[in-house]
Amino acid sequence: MTTRAFRLLLPGVLVLPVIAANVGGWAAITVEDLPDQVVARQPVTLAFTVRQHGVKPLDGLKGKVAATAGSLEASAAATAGRETGQYTATLTLPQAGQWTITIHSGFGNSRVTLLPVTAIDSGAAPPPPLAESERGRRLFVAKGCVSCHVHRDVGETSVAVGPDLTLRRYPPEFLKPFLASPTGQMPNLHLKPLEIAALAAFLNAGGAGAGQ
Ligand code: HEC
Repeated sequence: MTTRAFRLLLPGVLVLPVIAANVGGWAAITVEDLPDQVVARQPVTLAFTVRQHGVKPLDGLKGKVAATAGSLEASAAATAGRETGQYTATLTLPQAGQWTITIHSGFGNSRVTLLPVTAIDSGAAPPPPLAESERGRRLFVAKGCVSCHVHRDVGETSVAVGPDLTLRRYPPEFLKPFLASPTGQMPNLHLKPLEIAALAAFLNAGGAGAGQ
């Protein structure tokens, strides 16, 4: 694998279901094109969308992206992207290692800490490819699922407005179309087929359910 810069993805027209839960000012952050790894000392652009209550894209925020690895730090201001509620931040991680990236949306205290990402030296051998379920676990955080759903394999949930997914298993023929075009109060996060496949592998991992 080579350097994978974050690409800019332009979400399509949003379907806006109403999240009825009265839980105050919170927002779900959805990262576009989460990379499996990044290259140290090379700029990476992270694009993300901020949705109030997971639904309404929010413009005009002054967010930032901060990364830490031990005592090392890097950060970058987020600037408005092309779509409503979309932002980008370009970050350069100063050294190879395991980096923990937190996106501060700029909307109140809402933020998300991504699962650690590996930065490699340019020209270094890439780490082994991620298992699909591990990529799905990272996406569960990076796509904002964690804002609304508890899952014990990923840390904290901000507001559990959706069901706890830890023990649920789904037949892929239900799950994949559902994630591509959710019904009820679950928002459409404009996931791509490979992201859906990884999320389905994660949600069905290790269970007695239909598998992936
Ligand atoms: C803004 C909150 C919110 C976000 C963000 C969100 N969900 Fe949901 N999700 C819900 C709600 C609410 C439901 C219940 C839908 C209903 O029946 O009305 C739901 C339902 C589901 C279900 C079906 C549960 C069942 O057993 O019926 C799955 C699976 C699911 N979500 C997965 C995900 C994944 C994966 C993501 C991230 C890509 C995600 N959700 C992001 C709120 C959210």
